[in-house]
Amino acid sequence: MESLAGYVYKAASEGRVLTLAALLLNHSETETRYLLNYVTHLAGQRSTPLIIAARNGHEKVVRFLLDHYRVDTEQTGTVRFDGYVIDGATALWCAAGAGHFEVVQLLVSHSANVNHTTVTNSTPLRAACFDGRLDIVRYLVEHLADISIANKYDNTCLMIAAYKGHSDVVDFLLERGANPNAKAHCGATALHFAAEAGHLDIRAARRTWWSCCCSIRTATLESRIEALELLGASFANDREYYDILKTYHYLYLAMLERMRDHEHPVVKSQLPPVPAYGGRSECQSLTELEAIRLDHDALHMEGLKVRERILGSENIDVSHPIIYRGAVYADNMEFDRCIKLWLHALHLRQRSNRNTHKDLLRFAQVFSQMVHLKETVQPADVEQVLSCSVLEIQRSMARMESTPEPELPAATDNLESNIFTFLYLLCISTHTQCSAAQRACINKHVYQLLQLDPRSREGSSLLHLAISSSTPVDDFHTNDVCSFPNAQVTKLLLDCGAQVNAVDNEGNSPLHIIVQYNRPISDFLTLHAIIISLVESGAHTDMTNKQKKTPLDKSTTGVSEILLKTQMKMSLKCLAARAVRQHHITYRNQIPRTLEEFVEFH
Ligand SMILES: *[C@@H]1O[C@H](CO)[C@@H](O)[C@H](O)[C@H]1NC(C)=O
Repeated sequence: MESLAGYVYKAASEGRVLTLAALLLNHSETETRYLLNYVTHLAGQRSTPLIIAARNGHEKVVRFLLDHYRVDTEQTGTVRFDGYVIDGATALWCAAGAGHFEVVQLLVSHSANVNHTTVTNSTPLRAACFDGRLDIVRYLVEHLADISIANKYDNTCLMIAAYKGHSDVVDFLLERGANPNAKAHCGATALHFAAEAGHLDIRAARRTWWSCCCSIRTATLESRIEALELLGASFANDREYYDILKTYHYLYLAMLERMRDHEHPVVKSQLPPVPAYGGRSECQSLTELEAIRLDHDALHMEGLKVRERILGSENIDVSHPIIYRGAVYADNMEFDRCIKLWLHALHLRQRSNRNTHKDLLRFAQVFSQMVHLKETVQPADVEQVLSCSVLEIQRSMARMESTPEPELPAATDNLESNIFTFLYLLCISTHTQCSAAQRACINKHVYQLLQLDPRSREGSSLLHLAISSSTPVDDFHTNDVCSFPNAQVTKLLLDCGAQVNAVDNEGNSPLHIIVQYNRPISDFLTLHAIIISLVESGAHTDMTNKQKKTPLDKSTTGVSEILLKTQMKMSLKCLAARAVRQHHITYRNQIPRTLEEFVEFH
């Protein structure tokens, strides 16, 4: 039955209605229901025959399934659209989003619920607005679709149409009473979204943008002014559409609007000055704005301030221009300003619970570049990034707990990358000049992470990874400074309380790993320093892994063998434990509990 269900799905997906009819012939009612409710997992989608047929626009298949088999129109599945994964989508949602008008009509005439929302509360109408299909939008609204249902971010149909620049859809929705002043979760209105998108396509969009703005006549004066300000800001810090004259032009227009009524100017709400933006407040008057007309740097910062004020610090789009501007500084060797901006963006992103792995890696890269160029890396900056890195790892570990099976590999990748980035940062910290107090601050974060004890997919601890030559090193500047095995990082970890005898999934201790290092001659000092550090911290030289091999057995070179032998301090206690193991003498419940563990790893 299961493989038959697969064929049924395939036929529906490809629009082969005759094949489908043949496959469904001569089955009991229960079997038929099984086949038509069967959820096929394929290429990241999980859907039924009806949903996939609607998604792919196969009108005949949809009609056949509805007319002959009365398939439930409210089935939901997971589908992919332009790289987005949509959970809980109905057939109608899919048809509306993919622009299949006849399928939409068919489903609605078979009583499909026009208000059925996805897991993120997106309606079929929203899907059609995104796509800019006025015919479908009009049809759904005429069939009583609710135009006021917003998605889980309180983002309305009007906002998405404005953002995508579909001015005909915007006009239509306004005509039908959509509220232009509704605010999304991030505080933005439809006009803000239109302004955000205003710069995306210079030629075509300028016209659509203005017509969107003009359509929204009922919007408040303040939100129209903010739309102009956002438009200005969008030209200040964007690689592709950078145009500082336009920034000034739109900010000036907005200021004129603010001052139009001398008695009652529309006053900006002021955020406290952000040091990363140069510590200055936003301009409050035409005079103040005129004073920075030729000061491009001040205009760049003005753009960032405008965005953070209007879009709110939680908005996902706020951080991109900040990062871009920082990168421009880094390219000009103004590392100090770059790092201030990036730290600000990192804090914003982390505060709103975003995945910050790329941000953290970016710091490892720029710090490495600085170390390489002999620029001073401030310990306080490294410390802040390390602290964010610990939090990110803590969050990745917490996320793993609730990650469903199919997404585990991606979550594990993410956790591992975060652990590697932490090690790069640690390595960088060993290259910075720290006072004792600064060192203590850094060590505190290392200690915190060691307490969390994050592990790679092979079960390697931080210490295993610090001494393993298979730990990957990012190759954009980072590898100029960081490499593994790394004696300084090993020492730092041990000083902060790393478990020297921790074992990975194969039962290997760090000592098992380091004795397999294949550059014992050219990198003798590293090998030597690490073995000494491990043994001095109490590494057991005769501990066995799952294959009953000691580090000495695993030594792949004469050099590590000799180093190990000179460090081995075989005690009577160890010899006794080995004898017990070798001769299979029973010891459980006959010796103190604490000794049982000791015997076990010999
Ligand atoms: C959809 O919502 C609108 C507005 O609330 C309502 O009038 C209509 O009856 C709803 N349609 C369905 C099928 O629930």
